[in-house]
Amino acid sequence: MQFKDPANQSFASLSPAVWRASTVVFDNFEDFINRKSRQPDGYSYGITGTPTSRQLERRVAELENARHCVVLPSGQAALMTAVMAFVRGGDHLLISDSCYGALKTFARKWLSQMGVEVEFYPPTIDAGIEALIRPNTRMICLEAPGTVTMEMQDVAAIVATAKKYGVKTMMDNTWASPLYYRPLDQGIDLSIEAATKMFGGHSDLLMGTISLNDADDYAILRETQSILGQNTSPEDCFLVLRGLDTFALRLQHQSASTREVAAWLAEQPQIEQVLFPVLESDPGHAIWKQQFSGNGCLFSFIFKPAAEGAISAFFNALQHFPIGASWGGTHSLIAYYPASQQQARAFTPTQEAIIRISIGLEDADLLIADLQQALEAWQQSAG
Ligand SMILES: Cc1ncc(COP(=O)(O)O)c(C=O)c1O
Repeated sequence: MQFKDPANQSFASLSPAVWRASTVVFDNFEDFINRKSRQPDGYSYGITGTPTSRQLERRVAELENARHCVVLPSGQAALMTAVMAFVRGGDHLLISDSCYGALKTFARKWLSQMGVEVEFYPPTIDAGIEALIRPNTRMICLEAPGTVTMEMQDVAAIVATAKKYGVKTMMDNTWASPLYYRPLDQGIDLSIEAATKMFGGHSDLLMGTISLNDADDYAILRETQSILGQNTSPEDCFLVLRGLDTFALRLQHQSASTREVAAWLAEQPQIEQVLFPVLESDPGHAIWKQQFSGNGCLFSFIFKPAAEGAISAFFNALQHFPIGASWGGTHSLIAYYPASQQQARAFTPTQEAIIRISIGLEDADLLIADLQQALEAWQQSAG
């Protein structure tokens, strides 16, 4: 793809232009008066974006097989905006208990104070979701596999129920990404990606995207994005466009290494359980195999019970895994989620502390060797 400068047709390059604008200027009085009619695709004020964000939106829409896309300044902004656009006081909102934590906090602390009936449902409820539908159910939020605990959801069964009752669905698809799962093709209304992770891919920005097919909903989303003041930096859009050039290659490599490291870890005597639907032993394996065509670069695991201090000995022995809570970048990362966090949840597959690993572009053998020596440090402290 080549990018031409509209003002100078003899110039073309392989890099998109970074268009900055707080203000959009107009050719004449009538265009200014009618500026709002340019939405949802056009340009009327900086808040709704510039040609740089539109270009990224078109590119993500292609990946998602979507007609429309809206970029937002973070994955959390995308999740929140998707709900804010369609859910009102008096509505019933169903959220999977393993959805991204900040979305749950937003629903619990804000939406429920605004008269929304917020209900968290067991992630593995599958077709049983039908029993939770109320006359005022407006939206179902899904994420598969779930944040940290990695439960798979039967998306097909939930979508079938939602369609039967005219309930909107939104799905956080960041783990599989459109490379390995396309929610809209499966009947989900709003597909959300934290572009912070694989799309950006270099741990240096935050961004989110909402992709959808319905034109009326797109207009509502664009207005909500604008009214909530959610502008996305054109420089960051440029960086995500650049990230998308290597996205598929990075994910294919990271995905294969993740399978290798997770399978190895599952065999180690210090490990109680690896939470990763790709493994045949995982309770979500059958659904993952049936509905997804690949895996993301993230998995979790649980240690066998051991003396206090063993987990910190493990973390502090690691040489190639920086400790950090994000994922999807070129560098591997590791994070810790204490047992109290699982125990505070209504529906969780474990009451134990969870360790989560994001696999980057490093050599898988190097990562395995690092984990091996850190497991030995765990063993020594475990007693
Ligand atoms: C699955 C998932 N969705 C959404 C988000 C939120 O993305 P952001 O950090 O860009 O707000 C995250 C971030 O960790 C995530 O892991």
